[in-house]
This record gives sequence, C-alpha cells and structure tokens, in this order.
Amino acid sequence: MTTTALADTARAIVAAGKGVLAADETPRTLTQRLAARTIESTAETRRAYREMFFTTPGISEFIGGVILQDETIHQRSSTGTPLVGLLAQEGITPGIKVDNGARPLAGSPGERVTEGLDGLRDRLASYREMGARFAKWRAVILIGEGLPTAGCVNANAHALARYAALCQEEGLVPIVEPEVLMDGAHTIDRSEQVTGRVLQAVFDALFEQNVSLEGMLLKPNMVIAGQHCERQASVEEVATATLRTLSRHVPPAVPAIVFLSGGQDHLLATKHLGAINQVGGPKPWKLSYSYGRALQDEALEVWDGRSENVPAGQHAFYHRAKCDSAAALGRYRTEMESEAASA
Ligand code: 13P
Repeated sequence: MTTTALADTARAIVAAGKGVLAADETPRTLTQRLAARTIESTAETRRAYREMFFTTPGISEFIGGVILQDETIHQRSSTGTPLVGLLAQEGITPGIKVDNGARPLAGSPGERVTEGLDGLRDRLASYREMGARFAKWRAVILIGEGLPTAGCVNANAHALARYAALCQEEGLVPIVEPEVLMDGAHTIDRSEQVTGRVLQAVFDALFEQNVSLEGMLLKPNMVIAGQHCERQASVEEVATATLRTLSRHVPPAVPAIVFLSGGQDHLLATKHLGAINQVGGPKPWKLSYSYGRALQDEALEVWDGRSENVPAGQHAFYHRAKCDSAAALGRYRTEMESEAASA
C-alpha cells in the first residue's frame, strides 16, 4: 500500500466531523465495566453489547472508524454477519487494537511500558486480511513524584514508533496513542509540561523510524489537571493549554488528532473538544475524537444488559456521537444536549 493510500484512509476516518469509536476494551476490562452494573460478561453478552453500537441507525454520520479488539474482530452478529463486515457495509473503517497491554517497566517502579512488538508483523498482516484498515497501540505515562522518568518516556516512544512503522509497511494506518494519565493530584501546568515532553519524544522516535506522518493519526490526552487536583481548570484553560502544547510538538503533516477521553465525564469530554475547536490559534490538523468511555457510558447505563433496551441505548449513543461530531466541527452548543436528546 502506498503512502498516498494510507493518507487517504487516515483522512477518510475523520472526514466531515467524524471521529472514532474506541470499542477495543479487552474482555477483562469490559468484564469490569459490565460487572460495575451487575451485567454478566460472556462472549455472547460482550458481542450483544458491541452489536448495539455497530448497528445504531445513522451512526456513520458521526463515526468514521471503530477500533475493535481481537475477540470482536472474530465475532459474528446475531444475523450471522461478521461484525467487521457490518461496519464496512455502513462505510465505517474497521480498526484493531494490536498492543498486548502495559506491563511493569523493569528497573522503574510504578512505571509501565507497552508490549507486543514480537510477532506483530504477522498479526498485522492477518488483521488486514480480516478487513482491518487501521490499528491502535496505547502507551501510558504516569505523573508522580519524580515521574515520568526519561527511561519510561523513551521506551514507550520507541515502541510506538516501531509499531507505527510496521503498520505502514503492512498497509494499516497507525493510531499512535501516548496517554499521559489523569490519575493523581498534579496541576494542569504539570500536565502540560509532561504532555509536551512525551509528544516531543514520540515525534523524534517516529522520525527516526521513518514513519510517514501523513499516514498516521495521533491520539493524545487533553492537557488537564489530575483528577485529584484541588483546582480543576476551566474548559477554556484546558482548550488553550491543549492547543498550545499540540502546536509546539505536533508537526502539521499529521492529518488529524483524535483525543482519548481518559476517564473524563462524557459531557466534559464533549465540551473540551468543542472549546479546543473554538479557541483561536493555529490548527493545521483536524481535531476530533477517539473516545471509549465518553461515547459508551450513557448507552451502557441505558442498555443494562437487556435486549429490550437496545433501541434506547442506541439513541443515547447516537446523541453523544452527534454532540461530539458538532464539537469536532466547532459547532457544539450546550443547548444541543436537550435538542439532540429529544430528536
Ligand atoms: P477512553 O476514551 O475511555 O480513554 O478510551 C480511549 C482508548 O482507546 C483508550 O485506549
């Protein structure tokens, strides 16, 4: 696949205010989310849960790509169609999480490095065969006393770049996800400092590994105070600090930045994205979303594991995606919450 074709795929995923649904929780993580609502987690309930999202009428207006997980990419819908085929029929690009998770970083207590490079070339080729056109790898960086260390930042940046280069070789658009966690009590200033340093290390590594920036998507955290920080920044402060940090460290050749929600409340995740697209400043990239929890939480609550609640769950998902898409276009207004919900 040529670099032009990769760039076309990357741009199509975020065309016209669209974003990405991150539906790639591992069975273990999804089991925890379902258990929190006393919903039984089996391969069948997990499939029913995913299918609710993928078959939401009209959702392709707002969702250009869905990140699947290994279990889901092998599953079929209740009518026997492979789930990946359901998405493709709707014009939604299927993607796949390919990292093997964040593991303790040897010699650096409290820090983690994401693993999964061994055998990755073959796994990418087989996922492409199954219909995936993009991939995701998530690195996590913790802010704390003396953390992150340069060793942790560089190890994760190197792995992200090796993964991204392999994806492009195998004809998949890499989503490069360095997540600075909002766990902890750090200030927004500290988040800005660490996020900037991490992004700089990631782009240095991508350059070194010959990754084509036009054929990738960046999935960063927003610059935000730690969840236990006494002073939470305003929506405008988050938007300004996030844009400033990105403009300092992300080359304009990257077609789009698709934020993760990272544990933010769904409404705040929408408002932050809306404000990022509304504040002044240079924006050479599209600024959109690749939310997991922030797109799914309301629908999960409404669904509650019951098939009779699927239409209501789909309504909730459609509403949230519509608001997030408006935010990506810089057109979000709080009044949309009630307008869209009653539509
Ligand atoms: P959240 O939006 O819930 O952070 O999930 C995005 C994601 O893909 C994390 O890897």
